[in-house]
Amino acid sequence: MARTPYIAANWKMNKTVAEAAEFVDALLPRIAATQHDVVVCPPFTALHEVVERRRGTAVRVAAQNMHEAESGAFTGEVSAPMLVELDVEAVVLGHSERRQFFGETDAALARKVPAALAHDLEPILCVGESEEGRDAGETETVLERQLQADLAEVADADLPRVVIAYEPIWAIGTGKVATPEQAQEACAFIRDVLRGRGAAADEVRILYGGSVKPDNAAELLALPDVDGALVGGASLDAEDFAAIVEAAG
Ligand code: 13P
Repeated sequence: MARTPYIAANWKMNKTVAEAAEFVDALLPRIAATQHDVVVCPPFTALHEVVERRRGTAVRVAAQNMHEAESGAFTGEVSAPMLVELDVEAVVLGHSERRQFFGETDAALARKVPAALAHDLEPILCVGESEEGRDAGETETVLERQLQADLAEVADADLPRVVIAYEPIWAIGTGKVATPEQAQEACAFIRDVLRGRGAAADEVRILYGGSVKPDNAAELLALPDVDGALVGGASLDAEDFAAIVEAAG
């Protein structure tokens, strides 16, 4: 089945409001003709600016994290209704940097994914193994454990509303991109796990993330089970990010 390519720019903790505005103005003319899903994930402080500047275009906007509660005594957190009010459409959940540096747990993700869906925010759920995990031959065990835990409270019928990003930790920000074989194998495995849950797995978009650049994107995006990319470093430059969108065909 034909899945619409999904190319997302995860800026991480980069870009002020002024820099975000400059990026959007540079990106829009470069991707005006695309039929792909193009998503920009700015830091919270630049969400409003990016949402307003892309109005009337095909660009969609995602936050990089979200608390599962609607409101409450959770200092420093942001909720789904707060994002929806801004017209944010999606949210990255479970990025490995949040798991590694900020104690994001599978238990919290099991609450965050359904909370996002309940507010019509599209979750972009990140999974991926560490270098030690891959070396120990545990890639599939890790992926299956994360998927089953993080999606435990999502109804099978809702699984196609979730976007999955396969991001091997050893490939993030290292310039060490997964080989096409590794990316395909892992993304096909993820689809199999979802199929095993009874989901319409052929409808789920599965992205690859980890050192995606304009010069390696076409090969990765052509893989049968890789439906898009979650781009870090190369997404900070509008020209490079537009080239990656174009590489999706
Ligand atoms: P890089 O593209 O910088 O490796 O980052 C990948 C990533 O973590 C996207 O979420």
